[in-house]
Amino acid sequence: MKLFDVYPLYNVSPVKAEGCYIYDENNIEYLDLYGGHGVISVGHSHPDYIAKLKGQLDKLGFYSNAIQNPLQVELADKLGKVSGCDKYSLFLCNSGAEANENALKLASFHTGNSRVISFRNSFHGRTSASVAVTDNPKINAPINKQQIVTFLELNDADGVEKELKKGDVCAVIVEGIQGVGGLDQGTTEFFKALESLCEKHDAILILDEIQSGYGRSGKFFAFQHHDINPDIITTAKGMANGFPIGGVLISPKLKASFGLLGTTFGGNHLACAAAISVLEIIEKEDLIANVKEVSDYFLSEIKQIPGIRNIKGKGLMAGIEFDFEVGELRKKLIYDYHIFTGGAMNKKLLRILPPLTVKKKHISTFINALKEILS
Ligand SMILES: Cc1ncc(COP(=O)(O)O)c(C=O)c1O
Repeated sequence: MKLFDVYPLYNVSPVKAEGCYIYDENNIEYLDLYGGHGVISVGHSHPDYIAKLKGQLDKLGFYSNAIQNPLQVELADKLGKVSGCDKYSLFLCNSGAEANENALKLASFHTGNSRVISFRNSFHGRTSASVAVTDNPKINAPINKQQIVTFLELNDADGVEKELKKGDVCAVIVEGIQGVGGLDQGTTEFFKALESLCEKHDAILILDEIQSGYGRSGKFFAFQHHDINPDIITTAKGMANGFPIGGVLISPKLKASFGLLGTTFGGNHLACAAAISVLEIIEKEDLIANVKEVSDYFLSEIKQIPGIRNIKGKGLMAGIEFDFEVGELRKKLIYDYHIFTGGAMNKKLLRILPPLTVKKKHISTFINALKEILS
């Protein structure tokens, strides 16, 4: 059987990884400044993470959500404490798209409405409601176009108010920092307006922190830079360092009832063990402080590089916007300098999402490579 050919692939076949490095079948070392789309939070093959997963596998890998699972309770408790969002409840699923799907469903159940406000250049996943609120017609099939979605410009609070006044909106969904779209972000004024407008018009504010969460921005969640309390927060990528998991953090305003949401695999024992281990490592190694230190260094060093139009994002969710398209630059970085980076919908933007354990020396290697290629 052949693979269904949907991914344009770089010709690199990693076989092992450690910390911020990946090794191919010829033992060539690559510096990972992309973390497999921002998934690797605590570094590849972290010994504590491996021990936790192996230990759990020896005991119990999976059972369904029909029995007590104390690991889910432990994960919710720890996530509440580490993130500061301890008033929220946690629903566990398997991916980012699934987290948003459940968040949008909850908003619709709660309000009785179905229209959603989303923003230009947003990316929220590829399942039915998640893809419908994603601003990319190319990945929306006719079946997805049944959903009623209004796309507005980021930071257009007046537009949001005008739409909310119509009274048929269940949710406003926004990324803490836009990922795939190209690292744009709302202003504090905008986020605060979303919070108060949603409250006033009985709509649910969903903060998609799937890429920007888990410490990547220099705070646990990127919205915490703006001092707001969303109704729902969604998370995935960095949550279990590559073990598939997604989470929906739900404010007490939204009530649970048996059967309202559900999943077979979500919150299984192995996934919970992986996610607990990530939180333990984030705390023990003070990784959010590392994000701040290394990103400050990155911002001071990147100024030396010619041809840069703009630096976007926050913390270790950084976008370097050049005045040219970066496709060839990314190829040179990977094949000649053995450095993984990412792209975005904005073709002139190089996206870096390194493990949160990255060090200044790794940033120096990257800066030197950029200097050589662009000089
Ligand atoms: C902000 C955001 N939301 C949702 C998703 C979808 O997550 P997943 O690919 O795990 O379904 C992504 C993935 O890139 C994302 O960046």
